[in-house]
Amino acid sequence: MKIIITGYKGQVGAALQKAFAEHELFLVDLPEHDITNPETVAQFADFAPDLILHPAALTNVDACARNPRLAYHVNAFGTQNVALAAQRTGAAMLYISTNEVFDGTATDPYHEFAPTNPINPYAASKLAGEQIAARLAQKLYIVRIAWAFAPNSNMFPAKIIRAADERGALKVVTDEISSPTYVPDLVAALKKLVATDHYGTYHLTNAGICSRFEFAREILRLSGRGDIPVQPITSDAFERASTPPKYAPLQNNCAAALGITMRPWQEALVDYFAA
Ligand SMILES: NC(=O)c1ccc[n+]([C@@H]2O[C@H](COP(=O)([O-])OP(=O)(O)OC[C@H]3O[C@@H](n4cnc5c(N)ncnc54)[C@H](OP(=O)(O)O)[C@@H]3O)[C@@H](O)[C@H]2O)c1
Repeated sequence: MKIIITGYKGQVGAALQKAFAEHELFLVDLPEHDITNPETVAQFADFAPDLILHPAALTNVDACARNPRLAYHVNAFGTQNVALAAQRTGAAMLYISTNEVFDGTATDPYHEFAPTNPINPYAASKLAGEQIAARLAQKLYIVRIAWAFAPNSNMFPAKIIRAADERGALKVVTDEISSPTYVPDLVAALKKLVATDHYGTYHLTNAGICSRFEFAREILRLSGRGDIPVQPITSDAFERASTPPKYAPLQNNCAAALGITMRPWQEALVDYFAA
């Protein structure tokens, strides 16, 4: 199969490159290739892909809040270019989106068809990416994930360990709640999903729900730092540019109906430390 992977230097893109290594790949990332360049459409079409995997995005939520125009340029217009290439070639497209498309006011985890209502510019631009991709690409998977972490990435687990080692004590919020996504588990699920041709909207996080505080406690325990004190705080104690949804775990109903599930996040975290 001929596959384009955008954002291959990023956390999810790098794992996709490894997982799909047996295929003929066209790898895309900055600075060599900018998806906001309109020539992307023709360049991608020339490759005649069967599948376009599209995790590339401006993912720094605070940077998006400071510069919403840039967030839309990359996450919506860039996605438009990718989707136009899918339209032109008839390739299937898989767009990675986020739990932040929801406003976080729910009391139960969000299902795939729950109404979206982004509350920050990153999320709004990612939702705009979902919408333009759905208008253009005939064969589209939208896959929402949350709190991604991978071996060797600088995401939440690595940040917690570094902060614990530097400061010896932590303060972590209790009022941001979701479902972590271990990237190796995600790409294994994505491989199964793209083999189905069952296009649609999917939620693929690890099973289970936790607050940032609970996630941090488990990270410290599993890394042998269980004695580090962690003070529970609420997010109003933090000044930051972007506002995350407070309660945005995801229900996996649609992928589960196809037999695609992901194990509990605590088990994935054990493997993260083993890796
Ligand atoms: N990380 C999470 O917790 C999380 C949660 C929910 C959803 N998601 C979604 O999951 C996807 C993958 O996230 P990730 O954690 O792998 O992000 P990442 O590590 O930041 O990777 C994104 C990659 O895309 C590249 N990129 C940015 N702008 C580009 C452009 N104009 N042209 C080509 N490449 C560009 C980035 O390059 P630079 O680094 O040079 O900008 C980076 O290599 C994203 O769509 C994100 O919205 C992530």
